[in-house]
Amino acid sequence: MSTIESVLNETRIFPPSTEFSSHANLPSMDAYQTLCTQAQDDYLGFWKKQAEENLVWHKPFTQVLDESNLPFFKWFDDGELNISFNCLDRHLDTQPDKIAIIFEADDGQIIHSTYRDLHRRVCQFANGLKSLNIKKGDCVIIYMPMRIEAVVAMQACARIGAIHSVVFGGFSAKSLHERINDAGAVAVITADEQVRGGKNNHLKATVDEAILMEGTGSIKSVIIYQRTGNDIAFNAARDIWWHELVKDISTDCEPEWINAEHPLFTLYTSGSTGKPKGVQHSSAGYLLGTMVSMKWIFDYQPNDVFWCTADVGWITGHSYVAYGPLAMGATQVIFEGIPTYPDAGRFWKIIQDHKVTTFYTAPTAIRSLIKLGPNLPEQYDLSSLRLLGSVGEPINPEAWIWYYKKVGQSRCPIVDTWWQTETGCHMIAPAPGAVPLKPGSCTFPLPGIFAAIVDEAGQDVENGKGGFLVIKRPFPSQIRTLWGDPERFKKTYFPKDIGQGKYYLAGDSAYRDKDGYFWIMGRVDDVLNVSGHRLGTMEIESALAANPLVAEAAVVGKPHEIKGESVVAFVVLKGALPSGKEAIQIVDELRRWVVKEIGPIAKPEEIRFGENLPKTRSGKTMRRLLRTLARNEEITQDISTLENPAILEQLKQAIK
Ligand code: PRX
Repeated sequence: MSTIESVLNETRIFPPSTEFSSHANLPSMDAYQTLCTQAQDDYLGFWKKQAEENLVWHKPFTQVLDESNLPFFKWFDDGELNISFNCLDRHLDTQPDKIAIIFEADDGQIIHSTYRDLHRRVCQFANGLKSLNIKKGDCVIIYMPMRIEAVVAMQACARIGAIHSVVFGGFSAKSLHERINDAGAVAVITADEQVRGGKNNHLKATVDEAILMEGTGSIKSVIIYQRTGNDIAFNAARDIWWHELVKDISTDCEPEWINAEHPLFTLYTSGSTGKPKGVQHSSAGYLLGTMVSMKWIFDYQPNDVFWCTADVGWITGHSYVAYGPLAMGATQVIFEGIPTYPDAGRFWKIIQDHKVTTFYTAPTAIRSLIKLGPNLPEQYDLSSLRLLGSVGEPINPEAWIWYYKKVGQSRCPIVDTWWQTETGCHMIAPAPGAVPLKPGSCTFPLPGIFAAIVDEAGQDVENGKGGFLVIKRPFPSQIRTLWGDPERFKKTYFPKDIGQGKYYLAGDSAYRDKDGYFWIMGRVDDVLNVSGHRLGTMEIESALAANPLVAEAAVVGKPHEIKGESVVAFVVLKGALPSGKEAIQIVDELRRWVVKEIGPIAKPEEIRFGENLPKTRSGKTMRRLLRTLARNEEITQDISTLENPAILEQLKQAIK
């Protein structure tokens, strides 16, 4: 309730300027509502038209939606197309020399790639994959730095119908190993090293470590892009350099025509169990979602210079780096480095140097840049900007206002986009030429997206009341299944009790204000959102529990000024309760352990020790108590069901 009250106090409204609206794809509330009404009145006709207008079909589809096996929806199923053709070949006649990618390396080096050049690179690499006997339906892991080659690798997989699974370069060998195994991948595409913020990260060594772990027998090839040229271990039976693979290889590669429902990729994300889940997306429906959102929400215009700062390791980097902008024929910036290197003006300098018009980033980046240099944007010429975007977590009104005034110079609308790995594209976000903005609200659903807020029984709640965020009708870009686990897919996203198995359950709570605006309140499951990244508490708990010193662990989130949320772990050791120096040493060791098991993003901010965890008499850990302790708040909850109240005192002690 306190969240509801605090955001309800936000009454500022920012209507679009006439200047912006007059050029916008959706120039008014009427235009937006007309599309919504069309979707409402003729749902299938609406998506049919979008799919025909936006995608290039090799063989047209005859059926829009197949609902015969709920919730395994199929869209445009008997149509055939190729995603790489839709992103590249379609532009070759009309704009071969338009810049597709402006790449800026960590050290500032710049490379331009036109549509013709990108197409040539993708075709060559796709032929390279084929020469390694990688075929349609095979799964390929991509563990790459943020460079043109990462996009080439993804597009080349799409060209031959291989299913890619990109693993963020910050994940550990163990996480990579789990993903390779779960996907049954036949190849890994990686680089010798990754360079970010002047530091090298040994990607290939991590791949070697992951493959050496027991039971990774499926990998036949490892393709290595040479980024730094530093020494790496090379296994000639399995490893091949990227540049050698494509040397003297043909630049023609006929796309593999695939069925609309053929999986384009899987992407692993955290859920409420210890095991990450492989979210499987389709081809046509997914690409369609990225394209309509590019038009409606990013208000894509042919002269735009689009920049989404997300890494291709996350869904945002899939939809708004590797696919959406290319399908639209846009010019986009790809940046290898980090926002604070060599200084906290790097983002602003990139916007200035490349005349970025549309800038899309995460609230956590905005908050850290506010802290490091609240007035730094003033030192750069940001006059090219016309639209700003935010994604990954709720943006607090203070950060919104700073972003609006200092970066957008009170001229650029901010699109606060709510969506998820599973939804593939924006679900709730303002059409910026139409919708008056309220800082902190993602405003209204996209046309054709039937988002609602319901109670436990699946009934709509009235405006002003919180509830579960659901999407009532299927939509083309939605998750198709969880790789290898259809039962978990069904149970997690289409639970029987809410909406009788027909509503897509997002896992977020939200409410609508008196004007119908959506406000996201946070996750309802055991998933944390740290710096815009999803982390399952259970995943971190099982990582901690795997340490020989640890008997049991519970992980909760606590609010964090910059990261949004941070990880706090409560740990019961097998040995005696530690204190002083020993406690500090064990904290250090456990933090390092989590980094090794999962990756730096999961590192606990704080670890506390107790002889036990607070449990009910039936043995259930009382997480809400732990959340109160983590926030250092007074315990006002009823603790009468708590079996062991004395340990609360121990768990209050932070290790300093
Ligand atoms: O809790 C919501 C939050 O991020 C979750 C999805 O995380 P992920 O699958 O990693 O995708 C992030 C990028 C799309 C959601 O369930 N979230 C995402 N965007 C917003 C948000 N919360 C509030 N406002 C947003 N704009």
